[in-house]
Amino acid sequence: MTEHRRNDDLLIQANRLTRWFGGFKAVDNMNLDLILGEMLGLIGPNGASKTTMFNMLAGSLRPNSGEIRLMGADVSSEGADKRIGRKLGRSFQIPKPFPNMTVLENILTGAQNQAGERLFDVCFRPGAVKRDEQAALERAHGLMDFLLLSHLANEPASVLSGGQRKLLELARILMADPEVILLDEPAAGVNPSLLEQINDRIIELNQKHGKTILVIEHNMDMIAKLCSRVVVMATGRELAQGIPSDVIRNPDVIRAYLGEDA
Ligand SMILES: Nc1ncnc2c1ncn2[C@@H]1O[C@H](COP(=O)(O)OP(=O)(O)O)[C@@H](O)[C@H]1O
Ligand SMILES: [Mg+2]
Repeated sequence: MTEHRRNDDLLIQANRLTRWFGGFKAVDNMNLDLILGEMLGLIGPNGASKTTMFNMLAGSLRPNSGEIRLMGADVSSEGADKRIGRKLGRSFQIPKPFPNMTVLENILTGAQNQAGERLFDVCFRPGAVKRDEQAALERAHGLMDFLLLSHLANEPASVLSGGQRKLLELARILMADPEVILLDEPAAGVNPSLLEQINDRIIELNQKHGKTILVIEHNMDMIAKLCSRVVVMATGRELAQGIPSDVIRNPDVIRAYLGEDA
């Protein structure tokens, strides 16, 4: 592996990331590349540090050492908000919508760069504010259509099922029109009737809308269905990578998962 990989096709390049929690080395020298247009799976037993890795890529957690490039730019010292501005969207493993706000209102919180957020525009460019609000509203309605939430638009988020919360989370992220989407266990806690639909929407985002996606998922069937490439983590390191059908048969990977069951 070359030390300085420079490639326009790499939307994310994480080089030698290490993260300690106190005396515990959670992530140990991890490299990870996300290639333009791909759907990459990040799998591994519970506690492998998938979410920790994910949080560092999203900017909500700083590595102790290592470098993260997003579309070529070194974002290692930038926070999560700046990375959203660079067209990176991330979901949370356990979505926490504002419970008393409606589904529509929750989705609108994902809109970026609204003129209404700037005092100058509110005072002197009310037309621009109105236009932005109208565009955001139209976009939110389109996303509710896409994600099967339209009938719940005016319900408080507190009434949603686990699966519907995952869909709401996806809608909120998509409001900012990200190019790179990081999904942390989009199928966890989702009942089987919605699972298929969530899968289909994720596939559509990748294949039809050209979004580049990194997905953490425990469900191997889903990984096999969604992903062209998989990286396996165990105890904070890369254990294997390749196409799903190969990785699933890899003895080291099987051992890591069996160890978890024992
Ligand atoms: N904020 C934190 N403080 C201390 N330990 C943490 C923290 N976040 C995660 N860990 C620990 O790091 C390890 C990896 O956690 P996590 O990244 O959530 O794993 P995964 O998502 O693969 O299940 C676990 O042992 C967990 O207890
Ligand atoms: Mg996790």
